[in-house]
Amino acid sequence: MKESILRLKKEKNALIMAHYYQRDEIQEIADFIGDSLALARKAAETDADIIVMCGVHFMGETAKILCPDKKVLVPDMGAGCSLADSCDPEEFRHFIEQHPGHTVISYVNTSAAVKALTDIVVTSGNARKIVESLPKEEKIIFGPDRNLGGYINTVSDREMVLWPGACHVHDRFSLEKILELKKAHPGAKILVHPECRKPLQLIADKVGSTAALLDFAGKDDAKEYIVVTESGILREMRLKCPEKVFLPAPAEDSECQCNECDYMKLNTLEKVYRCLRDESPEITVDPEIAREAIKPIERMLEMSL
Ligand code: 13P
Ligand code: SF4
Repeated sequence: MKESILRLKKEKNALIMAHYYQRDEIQEIADFIGDSLALARKAAETDADIIVMCGVHFMGETAKILCPDKKVLVPDMGAGCSLADSCDPEEFRHFIEQHPGHTVISYVNTSAAVKALTDIVVTSGNARKIVESLPKEEKIIFGPDRNLGGYINTVSDREMVLWPGACHVHDRFSLEKILELKKAHPGAKILVHPECRKPLQLIADKVGSTAALLDFAGKDDAKEYIVVTESGILREMRLKCPEKVFLPAPAEDSECQCNECDYMKLNTLEKVYRCLRDESPEITVDPEIAREAIKPIERMLEMSL
Protein backbone atom coordinates (compact mmCIF):
# COMPACT_ATOMS: atom_id res chain seq x y z
CA MET A 1 0.00 0.00 0.00
CA LYS A 2 2.78 2.41 0.96
CA GLU A 3 4.68 1.74 -2.27
CA SER A 4 1.56 2.28 -4.37
CA ILE A 5 0.86 5.58 -2.62
CA LEU A 6 4.43 6.79 -3.17
CA ARG A 7 4.29 5.80 -6.86
CA LEU A 8 0.98 7.59 -7.42
CA LYS A 9 2.22 10.62 -5.53
CA LYS A 10 5.24 10.91 -7.85
CA GLU A 11 3.20 10.37 -11.03
CA LYS A 12 0.68 13.04 -10.05
CA ASN A 13 3.08 15.56 -8.48
CA ALA A 14 1.14 15.41 -5.25
CA LEU A 15 2.15 16.55 -1.79
CA ILE A 16 0.97 14.47 1.16
CA MET A 17 0.58 16.48 4.33
CA ALA A 18 -0.30 15.03 7.72
CA HIS A 19 -1.21 16.46 11.10
CA TYR A 20 0.56 15.06 14.18
CA TYR A 21 -2.68 13.34 15.25
CA GLN A 22 -2.76 11.08 12.18
CA ARG A 23 -2.21 7.34 12.48
CA ASP A 24 1.51 6.41 12.60
CA GLU A 25 1.44 4.72 9.18
CA ILE A 26 0.07 7.89 7.56
CA GLN A 27 2.70 10.06 9.23
CA GLU A 28 5.29 7.59 7.88
CA ILE A 29 4.36 8.24 4.22
CA ALA A 30 3.74 11.99 4.54
CA ASP A 31 6.03 14.51 2.84
CA PHE A 32 5.31 16.97 5.57
CA ILE A 33 3.99 16.62 9.14
CA GLY A 34 3.00 19.63 11.20
CA ASP A 35 0.60 21.52 13.41
CA SER A 36 -2.27 23.53 11.93
CA LEU A 37 -0.10 26.61 11.41
CA ALA A 38 2.71 24.71 9.66
CA LEU A 39 0.20 22.89 7.43
CA ALA A 40 -1.36 26.21 6.35
CA ARG A 41 2.07 27.74 5.70
CA LYS A 42 3.23 24.72 3.69
CA ALA A 43 0.02 24.73 1.62
CA ALA A 44 0.54 28.41 0.81
CA GLU A 45 4.02 27.79 -0.64
CA THR A 46 3.83 24.40 -2.36
CA ASP A 47 4.22 23.97 -6.13
CA ALA A 48 2.59 20.53 -6.14
CA ASP A 49 -0.47 20.07 -8.40
CA ILE A 50 -2.38 18.07 -5.81
CA ILE A 51 -2.44 18.42 -2.03
CA VAL A 52 -3.57 15.40 -0.02
CA MET A 53 -4.49 16.76 3.40
CA CYS A 54 -4.41 13.99 5.97
CA GLY A 55 -6.07 15.72 8.86
CA VAL A 56 -9.59 17.01 9.25
CA HIS A 57 -11.92 18.91 6.94
CA PHE A 58 -11.09 22.47 8.06
CA MET A 59 -7.40 21.80 7.31
CA GLY A 60 -8.27 20.81 3.74
CA GLU A 61 -10.55 23.82 3.43
CA THR A 62 -7.80 26.19 4.62
CA ALA A 63 -5.41 24.69 2.04
CA LYS A 64 -8.03 25.09 -0.72
CA ILE A 65 -8.71 28.72 0.23
CA LEU A 66 -4.97 29.43 0.08
CA CYS A 67 -4.47 27.48 -3.18
CA PRO A 68 -7.73 27.81 -5.17
CA ASP A 69 -6.09 26.50 -8.37
CA LYS A 70 -4.83 23.30 -6.83
CA LYS A 71 -6.73 20.10 -6.29
CA VAL A 72 -7.06 19.51 -2.55
CA LEU A 73 -8.00 15.96 -1.61
CA VAL A 74 -8.91 14.48 1.77
CA PRO A 75 -8.90 10.74 2.48
CA ASP A 76 -12.30 10.86 4.24
CA MET A 77 -14.83 13.66 3.78
CA GLY A 78 -16.40 12.64 7.11
CA ALA A 79 -13.30 13.69 9.07
CA GLY A 80 -14.79 16.76 10.68
CA CYS A 81 -14.03 18.47 13.98
CA SER A 82 -16.30 18.78 17.02
CA LEU A 83 -14.82 22.19 17.79
CA ALA A 84 -15.51 23.54 14.29
CA ASP A 85 -19.01 22.02 14.54
CA SER A 86 -19.62 23.85 17.83
CA CYS A 87 -19.71 27.14 15.89
CA ASP A 88 -22.58 27.47 13.45
CA PRO A 89 -21.93 30.38 11.01
CA GLU A 90 -25.41 31.91 11.39
CA GLU A 91 -25.27 31.78 15.19
CA PHE A 92 -21.76 33.21 15.09
CA ARG A 93 -22.96 36.07 12.86
CA HIS A 94 -25.69 36.81 15.40
CA PHE A 95 -23.10 36.72 18.24
CA ILE A 96 -20.94 39.24 16.35
CA GLU A 97 -23.96 41.51 15.79
CA GLN A 98 -24.59 41.45 19.55
CA HIS A 99 -21.06 42.78 20.15
CA PRO A 100 -20.61 45.76 17.85
CA GLY A 101 -17.15 47.35 17.67
CA HIS A 102 -15.33 44.09 18.45
CA THR A 103 -12.48 42.64 16.40
CA VAL A 104 -13.35 39.04 15.54
CA ILE A 105 -10.61 36.46 16.09
CA SER A 106 -11.33 32.86 15.11
CA TYR A 107 -9.33 29.75 15.76
CA VAL A 108 -8.40 27.93 12.54
CA ASN A 109 -10.63 25.02 13.69
CA THR A 110 -13.68 26.61 12.03
CA SER A 111 -15.59 26.29 8.77
CA ALA A 112 -14.79 28.58 5.83
CA ALA A 113 -18.13 30.31 6.46
CA VAL A 114 -17.06 31.26 10.01
CA LYS A 115 -13.65 32.41 8.73
CA ALA A 116 -15.49 34.64 6.24
CA LEU A 117 -17.02 36.47 9.25
CA THR A 118 -13.63 36.85 10.94
CA ASP A 119 -11.01 39.63 11.05
CA ILE A 120 -8.01 37.48 12.02
CA VAL A 121 -7.63 33.70 12.07
CA VAL A 122 -5.27 32.20 14.65
CA THR A 123 -3.95 28.75 15.52
CA SER A 124 -2.88 27.53 18.93
CA GLY A 125 0.70 28.19 17.74
CA ASN A 126 0.26 31.94 17.22
CA ALA A 127 -2.94 32.96 19.06
CA ARG A 128 -1.19 34.50 22.06
CA LYS A 129 1.31 36.43 19.93
CA ILE A 130 -1.43 37.78 17.65
CA VAL A 131 -3.73 38.82 20.49
CA GLU A 132 -0.84 40.50 22.33
CA SER A 133 0.09 42.43 19.19
CA LEU A 134 -3.29 44.21 19.36
CA PRO A 135 -3.77 47.27 21.61
CA LYS A 136 -4.83 46.37 25.15
CA GLU A 137 -8.03 48.41 24.87
CA GLU A 138 -9.16 46.70 21.65
CA LYS A 139 -12.44 44.84 22.16
CA ILE A 140 -12.18 41.27 20.90
CA ILE A 141 -14.51 38.36 20.24
CA PHE A 142 -12.66 35.04 20.36
CA GLY A 143 -14.19 31.87 18.97
CA PRO A 144 -14.88 29.05 19.04
CA ASP A 145 -12.65 27.45 21.72
CA ARG A 146 -13.50 28.70 25.21
CA ASN A 147 -10.51 26.93 26.78
CA LEU A 148 -7.91 28.44 24.41
CA GLY A 149 -9.66 31.84 24.66
CA GLY A 150 -9.72 31.61 28.47
CA TYR A 151 -6.01 30.69 28.51
CA ILE A 152 -5.12 33.76 26.44
CA ASN A 153 -7.33 35.98 28.60
CA THR A 154 -5.36 34.78 31.64
CA VAL A 155 -1.80 34.93 30.30
CA SER A 156 -2.29 38.12 28.28
CA ASP A 157 -4.53 39.90 30.81
CA ARG A 158 -7.38 40.41 28.32
CA GLU A 159 -11.13 40.25 28.57
CA MET A 160 -12.00 38.81 25.19
CA VAL A 161 -15.62 37.78 24.77
CA LEU A 162 -15.57 34.00 24.30
CA TRP A 163 -17.73 31.79 22.13
CA PRO A 164 -18.61 28.75 24.29
CA GLY A 165 -17.22 25.99 22.03
CA ALA A 166 -14.88 23.12 22.89
CA CYS A 167 -13.15 20.09 21.40
CA HIS A 168 -14.61 16.78 22.58
CA VAL A 169 -11.13 15.24 22.84
CA HIS A 170 -9.32 17.95 24.83
CA ASP A 171 -12.35 18.78 26.96
CA ARG A 172 -12.57 15.25 28.34
CA PHE A 173 -9.12 14.73 29.86
CA SER A 174 -9.38 13.63 33.47
CA LEU A 175 -7.63 15.84 36.02
CA GLU A 176 -7.97 13.09 38.60
CA LYS A 177 -6.39 10.38 36.45
CA ILE A 178 -3.59 12.73 35.36
CA LEU A 179 -2.79 13.59 38.99
CA GLU A 180 -2.66 9.85 39.76
CA LEU A 181 -0.26 9.37 36.86
CA LYS A 182 1.88 12.22 38.18
CA LYS A 183 1.94 10.55 41.61
CA ALA A 184 3.27 7.37 40.00
CA HIS A 185 5.79 9.39 37.94
CA PRO A 186 6.73 12.35 40.16
CA GLY A 187 9.60 13.42 37.90
CA ALA A 188 7.40 13.65 34.80
CA LYS A 189 6.61 17.08 33.39
CA ILE A 190 3.06 17.76 32.24
CA LEU A 191 2.56 19.01 28.65
CA VAL A 192 -0.91 20.44 27.95
CA HIS A 193 -2.64 21.63 24.78
CA PRO A 194 -4.52 24.92 25.37
CA GLU A 195 -7.79 23.35 24.20
CA CYS A 196 -7.82 21.53 27.58
CA ARG A 197 -9.77 22.91 30.54
CA LYS A 198 -8.28 25.45 32.95
CA PRO A 199 -7.45 23.05 35.84
CA LEU A 200 -5.22 21.12 33.43
CA GLN A 201 -3.62 24.32 32.14
CA LEU A 202 -2.88 25.23 35.78
CA ILE A 203 -0.96 22.00 36.54
CA ALA A 204 1.01 22.15 33.27
CA ASP A 205 4.76 22.65 33.03
CA LYS A 206 4.12 23.76 29.45
CA VAL A 207 0.93 24.83 27.66
CA GLY A 208 1.27 24.96 23.88
CA SER A 209 0.28 23.86 20.41
CA THR A 210 1.36 20.42 19.22
CA ALA A 211 4.49 21.94 17.64
CA ALA A 212 5.27 23.98 20.78
CA LEU A 213 4.96 20.89 23.01
CA LEU A 214 7.29 18.97 20.70
CA ASP A 215 9.78 21.80 20.75
CA PHE A 216 9.63 22.05 24.55
CA ALA A 217 10.21 18.30 24.99
CA GLY A 218 13.21 18.46 22.65
CA LYS A 219 14.91 21.29 24.56
CA ASP A 220 13.90 20.42 28.13
CA ASP A 221 16.03 18.23 30.40
CA ALA A 222 13.37 16.03 32.07
CA LYS A 223 13.28 12.32 31.25
CA GLU A 224 9.53 11.72 31.43
CA TYR A 225 6.47 13.62 30.24
CA ILE A 226 2.71 13.25 30.63
CA VAL A 227 1.26 14.33 27.30
CA VAL A 228 -2.18 15.93 27.59
CA THR A 229 -3.25 16.12 23.96
CA GLU A 230 -4.36 13.66 21.28
CA SER A 231 -2.09 10.64 21.48
CA GLY A 232 -1.03 10.71 17.79
CA ILE A 233 1.60 13.27 18.79
CA LEU A 234 3.48 10.57 20.73
CA ARG A 235 4.99 9.15 17.54
CA GLU A 236 6.84 12.35 16.68
CA MET A 237 7.82 12.94 20.32
CA ARG A 238 9.35 9.47 20.60
CA LEU A 239 11.13 9.88 17.24
CA LYS A 240 12.57 13.26 18.25
CA CYS A 241 13.57 12.19 21.77
CA PRO A 242 14.11 8.40 21.75
CA GLU A 243 15.83 8.52 25.13
CA LYS A 244 12.78 10.05 26.86
CA VAL A 245 9.53 8.49 28.07
CA PHE A 246 6.21 9.98 26.92
CA LEU A 247 3.08 8.87 28.75
CA PRO A 248 -0.33 9.45 27.15
CA ALA A 249 -2.89 11.14 29.42
CA PRO A 250 -6.22 9.34 29.95
CA ALA A 251 -9.68 10.72 29.32
CA GLU A 252 -12.47 10.80 31.92
CA ASP A 253 -14.75 8.28 30.26
CA SER A 254 -12.20 5.96 28.72
CA GLU A 255 -11.02 2.53 29.78
CA CYS A 256 -7.79 2.84 27.82
CA GLN A 257 -4.76 4.92 28.69
CA CYS A 258 -4.93 7.45 25.86
CA ASN A 259 -7.32 9.86 24.18
CA GLU A 260 -7.85 9.82 20.44
CA CYS A 261 -9.72 12.06 17.99
CA ASP A 262 -12.19 9.81 16.14
CA TYR A 263 -12.23 12.24 13.22
CA MET A 264 -8.45 12.28 12.78
CA LYS A 265 -8.38 8.50 13.02
CA LEU A 266 -10.94 8.08 10.21
CA ASN A 267 -8.10 8.46 7.73
CA THR A 268 -6.37 5.20 6.83
CA LEU A 269 -3.58 4.26 4.39
CA GLU A 270 -6.15 2.60 2.15
CA LYS A 271 -8.22 5.79 2.00
CA VAL A 272 -5.10 7.82 1.20
CA TYR A 273 -4.36 5.43 -1.65
CA ARG A 274 -7.94 5.56 -2.99
CA CYS A 275 -8.17 9.33 -2.81
CA LEU A 276 -4.92 9.73 -4.76
CA ARG A 277 -5.97 7.10 -7.32
CA ASP A 278 -9.48 8.51 -7.84
CA GLU A 279 -8.59 12.17 -7.12
CA SER A 280 -11.59 12.20 -4.82
CA PRO A 281 -13.00 13.24 -2.36
CA GLU A 282 -12.03 16.75 -3.35
CA ILE A 283 -12.50 19.84 -1.17
CA THR A 284 -14.48 22.67 -2.74
CA VAL A 285 -15.21 26.06 -1.22
CA ASP A 286 -17.88 28.46 -2.43
CA PRO A 287 -15.84 31.16 -4.27
CA GLU A 288 -17.72 34.02 -2.54
CA ILE A 289 -17.00 32.57 0.90
CA ALA A 290 -13.39 31.82 -0.11
CA ARG A 291 -12.89 35.45 -1.20
CA GLU A 292 -13.80 36.62 2.32
CA ALA A 293 -12.20 33.74 4.22
CA ILE A 294 -8.76 34.21 2.67
CA LYS A 295 -8.39 37.71 4.16
CA PRO A 296 -8.20 36.70 7.85
CA ILE A 297 -6.03 33.67 6.97
CA GLU A 298 -3.54 35.85 5.09
CA ARG A 299 -3.62 38.34 7.94
CA MET A 300 -2.67 35.49 10.30
CA LEU A 301 0.20 34.39 8.06
CA GLU A 302 1.54 37.98 7.89
CA MET A 303 1.17 38.51 11.66
CA SER A 304 2.88 35.26 12.62
CA LEU A 305 6.02 35.64 10.49
P1 13P B 1 -2.50 22.28 16.61
O1 13P B 1 -2.67 23.52 15.84
O2 13P B 1 -1.85 22.51 17.94
O3 13P B 1 -1.80 21.25 15.81
O4 13P B 1 -3.95 21.73 17.01
C1 13P B 1 -4.86 21.29 16.06
C2 13P B 1 -5.98 20.60 16.66
O5 13P B 1 -6.89 20.17 16.03
C3 13P B 1 -5.95 20.45 18.08
O6 13P B 1 -6.98 19.68 18.48
FE1 SF4 C 1 -11.12 18.94 16.22
FE2 SF4 C 1 -10.51 18.18 18.67
FE3 SF4 C 1 -10.14 16.49 16.68
FE4 SF4 C 1 -8.55 18.66 16.96
S1 SF4 C 1 -8.69 16.92 18.33
S2 SF4 C 1 -9.49 17.92 15.07
S3 SF4 C 1 -10.02 20.16 17.74
S4 SF4 C 1 -12.11 17.30 17.34
